[in-house]
Amino acid sequence: MAYPINRMRRLRRSDALRRMVRENSVAVDNLIYPLFVVHGIDVKVEIPSMPGVYHFSTDTLCTEAEHIARLGIPAVLLFGIPAAKDEKGSEAYAPDGIVQRAVRALKKTVPELVVVTDVCLCEYTSHGHCGIVKDGEVVNDETLDLIARTALSHAEAGADIVAPSDMMDGRVGVIRDALDENGFTDVAIMSYAAKFASSFYGPFRDAAGCAPKFGDRSTYQMDPANRREAAREIALDVDEGADIIMVKPALAYLDIISDARASVDVPIAAYNVSGEYCMVKLAAAKGLVDEKRVVVEILTSIRRAGADLIITYHAKDYAAWQRE
Ligand code: PBG
Repeated sequence: MAYPINRMRRLRRSDALRRMVRENSVAVDNLIYPLFVVHGIDVKVEIPSMPGVYHFSTDTLCTEAEHIARLGIPAVLLFGIPAAKDEKGSEAYAPDGIVQRAVRALKKTVPELVVVTDVCLCEYTSHGHCGIVKDGEVVNDETLDLIARTALSHAEAGADIVAPSDMMDGRVGVIRDALDENGFTDVAIMSYAAKFASSFYGPFRDAAGCAPKFGDRSTYQMDPANRREAAREIALDVDEGADIIMVKPALAYLDIISDARASVDVPIAAYNVSGEYCMVKLAAAKGLVDEKRVVVEILTSIRRAGADLIITYHAKDYAAWQRE
């Protein structure tokens, strides 16, 4: 039954009608806010490459976390910037490393806030790669032990969810084993399952000081051209015990999110990464786009594609807008 019987515009006539038939929306409950923690006291320094995003020391981080919880955002994703880096990324799994300290402080101050920790070595290694380097190559199996130790040390500090982002093969399984053998059967794993070797991470690498000193990450992160391979990565991580799988970045990869939604039943997270955030912030600062409308449109598109959770630097702004 086509026109004139069917008129699609009938249900677009008013705001109330549009609200009634809206298929997707973003709840503050769907959001995870990334936070960067550094050593020191009373530090709150804006990250030059990421307007509106800060380096916090553990004390100021707790104040910020209280604010985040008050906004109704249920979870934060923690990244650490260590005091020193070495070949094996020792501070990543040190019991008194920066992330471990921050998790303890957060759990004491804002126990209801879900703390997710990024599990990776790249912020902690002198070469900036996500694993152990031998003869110029990132070696998989020797890295697994350090990744598992890192995840375990985060669990010991009180993390609710560990999120491995290194893209070594087999890491979800070894993390699950390490957690279970040490009594952390209830700590969940959110795996960066389909993580692409993307140029959209540029601003983050400045923020976390983790740009590789040689080469790039394309021997472990995925080729942006590959869609079927993402389905395999996701299936493997689910098999190994991932509780939540992630697609990263989000915007140039909405097809991957949509495929994932059709093929797995675990919750899906999408990471709206630093480069995606900065494009919006810079365009808005120049008056080229309406920031609020563009952010709502972007986050809604990620939900429409099929993501349950969105990790985004826009989370605080979005939550504040919901209260206006
Ligand atoms: C660490 C890691 C990166 C990001 C999250 N975890 C950088 C990378 O893989 O090079 C990127 C996040 C962002 O761009 O917002 N492996």
